[in-house]
Amino acid sequence: MNIQMVDLKRQYQKIKPEIDSAIQEVLDSTQFIQGKKVNEFEKAAADYLGVKYAVGVANGTDALQIAMMALGIGKDDEVITTPFTFVATTETIVMIGAKPVYVDIDPVTYNIDVKKIKEKITPRTKAILPVHLYGNPAEMDEILSIAKDYNLFVIEDSAQGFGAEYKGKKVCSFGDVACISFFPSKNLGCYGDGGMVVTNNEEIHEKVRMIANHGSKVRYVHERLGMNSRLDALQAAILNVKIKYIDEWNNKRIQNAKLYSERLKDVKQVITPTYPEYSKHIFHQYTIKVENRDDLQKFLTSKNIPTAIHYPVPLHLQPAFRGFAEEGSLPYAEEAAKKVLSLPMHPDLEIEEIDYITNSIKEFHS
Ligand SMILES: Cc1ncc(COP(=O)(O)O)c(C=O)c1O
Repeated sequence: MNIQMVDLKRQYQKIKPEIDSAIQEVLDSTQFIQGKKVNEFEKAAADYLGVKYAVGVANGTDALQIAMMALGIGKDDEVITTPFTFVATTETIVMIGAKPVYVDIDPVTYNIDVKKIKEKITPRTKAILPVHLYGNPAEMDEILSIAKDYNLFVIEDSAQGFGAEYKGKKVCSFGDVACISFFPSKNLGCYGDGGMVVTNNEEIHEKVRMIANHGSKVRYVHERLGMNSRLDALQAAILNVKIKYIDEWNNKRIQNAKLYSERLKDVKQVITPTYPEYSKHIFHQYTIKVENRDDLQKFLTSKNIPTAIHYPVPLHLQPAFRGFAEEGSLPYAEEAAKKVLSLPMHPDLEIEEIDYITNSIKEFHS
């Protein structure tokens, strides 16, 4: 058995003719930056997500930075966010001169605990930045309601949430702006780096487009500080093919997650993912919580089962971001970092593989 955490080879083999011909088309056109393929994909993504505007950028990290720049967030501003996420969420806040203000996570969903947001709001707070961690939507109703009461922006970090739904509506369509990553292992991934900023607000859209293109609308006229962050045509061509399959792939992930949870339900040492029935969790990761995580991980490695820890160190304890919150002040994030373990998850996972993985977890606990 050759189990992969994410099996991009299996996926590519299934759609190879379409992908190869899309790439060949770009090569033949020699239109590598901007152009038809990028426009087509921006339209396809906006339509799929139910938003008005989509701007392809170089990666999800840039998407976050550009979104915050477009909202005018900068020096000494505060952005409320979660410490339990990939580094990019905090890194970009610090990069633009603002301060991440961490709210602990809900220990069940691992998303920002909306009950604890209000107490962290100060006159300097400019935005709330929730992450739809592992593909599980954050509690958007409460976040939007707090943002409205305190006049704050909402920036959705939807790097892991393409296709996830909250109360029947796609995530990415709730905030003032949402940021997406198309890193190859994401649910919708390209074959290199790629990202996107989406919004329903025309003014934000214009600013995002300008910032991503050196602060320029008209060639060689630079109206504001910007950067070079573009989705290239080869990646857009690949994403144009893959977006047609995203619902099918996400649904297979959901089926696989159900199988995992069903097979693990009697293993009392293992806490399987929980999410509200009004959410469509698209299982970018299938992440369990266990007391003796490191020993279980070693055992699974010995059985040729790859696993990953998302994330082993919460961001307030990372050397580069010390000083934004004390150790011990965000106990659920700190606990999760010690106990979570992501199991292999992708649409092409076979039932026999899930059986082998779950039987191995049972064997470890027997
Ligand atoms: C939650 C989150 N935010 C942001 C990013 C950054 O995306 P990228 O790797 O495309 O820069 C990632 C990527 O892993 C992520 O998981």
